[in-house]
Amino acid sequence: MAMTKKILVCTNFRANLNNPSCAARDSQLVLAALKKELTKKNIVIEIEESPCMGYCNVGPNLRLAPNGEFFHGVSTINIAKLIQAAKKFSLS
Ligand code: FES
Repeated sequence: MAMTKKILVCTNFRANLNNPSCAARDSQLVLAALKKELTKKNIVIEIEESPCMGYCNVGPNLRLAPNGEFFHGVSTINIAKLIQAAKKFSLS
């Protein structure tokens, strides 16, 4: 089966103020902004919500899949950079 290029968005929520999860750092806002921007620009890249990626202390975390680059500390203002990277990312 052919692999599909995806952007994984960690939306894990953990109620622990000492170790904030990506959802506690507003990854849902990043997810919504990302979907909106892709739709607006007519770019077809699949987005998938992900469980914890193990980098909670530098979240919100996103990753290009399969096996692509991680993006840490993503906010709604650096979505454009992420989309550029996702467009360039090729399945090999
Ligand atoms: S909660 Fe997102 S990387 Fe751990």
